[in-house]
Amino acid sequence: MQVLRRRGWELAEREATPEPVVLGRRAAIAGGAALGVAIGAGSAGAVPVPPGLTPNPRYPAGRALSRETDATTFNNYYEFGSQKNIWRAAEKLPQSPWSIAIAGLVKSPREIALDDLVRQVTLEERIYRHRCVEAWAMTVPWTGFALSRLLALAEPLGSAKYLVFTTRADAKVMPGLQEDWYPWPYTEGLTIEEAGNELAFLVTGMYGKPLPPQNGGPIRLAVPWKYGFKSAKAIVKIAFTEERPESYWETISPTEYGFWANVNPDVPHPRWSQATERLLGGDERVPTRIYNGYGEFVAGLYADKPNERLFT
Ligand code: MTE
Repeated sequence: MQVLRRRGWELAEREATPEPVVLGRRAAIAGGAALGVAIGAGSAGAVPVPPGLTPNPRYPAGRALSRETDATTFNNYYEFGSQKNIWRAAEKLPQSPWSIAIAGLVKSPREIALDDLVRQVTLEERIYRHRCVEAWAMTVPWTGFALSRLLALAEPLGSAKYLVFTTRADAKVMPGLQEDWYPWPYTEGLTIEEAGNELAFLVTGMYGKPLPPQNGGPIRLAVPWKYGFKSAKAIVKIAFTEERPESYWETISPTEYGFWANVNPDVPHPRWSQATERLLGGDERVPTRIYNGYGEFVAGLYADKPNERLFT
């Protein structure tokens, strides 16, 4: 197995977006707003955010929102490279048309256009804390819908135990795919119980706008009690399986990035501590909390799994 020939996540903190890039982005945003158009070519056709949404009060953030410019210019998206400043490259990823295959152990496997899917759900806004395994964190207002709603639409068979998320791999616009020791496409998995948990969220927008390509547009996952690598971007297929899948980072380095990957400050990564996290946009570090502070919602999912490696 190729174990981190390029140790991507060791690069994290020294790859902060240079100020000119941030300023350039702001100028682009201002220009776009003046023209009344969506930002970036890649945003065209992404899922519009209904006006007037307010954050769901059931999920208080408990800390200040990250600045939009920080959250949209400091990204992990290996398909576009292992550096953090891929936002401009990611805007080349076409956002429409987009469809998602519902596959595997479901009543009727099918392909559903994202537009059609969105018509069958209720979009809401939720502010979630996001904790990357690299020990940086952000606080973001996402727009989207509960993954449990998709579960209901998919009608999984009784034998389905896991969901496997497969994401877009488009070599025409994703230079990272040339690094062929990585196990493309990027995939992730959840148990069906985790997917049915109220926190599991399919995201189509952020900061009241369509989800930018660099953040996983037009549709990504947000599972905020887990390390960020579980929140797969640019989802094109959701398969239901009986077998536990092996996901992208697990294939690359199974001792460092496991299936469960629940946030826990007391379980260090083999190469660094997870006790604290740096809030995006500054140097402030805050204590990391078990399940990223969402234990009241999710701890029960793991009560019957004393022998699993739940926190890496
Ligand atoms: N999804 C895909 N397809 N490719 C990736 O490289 N990186 C993951 C996750 N989803 C990744 C992905 C990691 S490590 C993190 S921390 C989050 O996306 C980062 O999300 P953000 O860029 O919106 O902050």
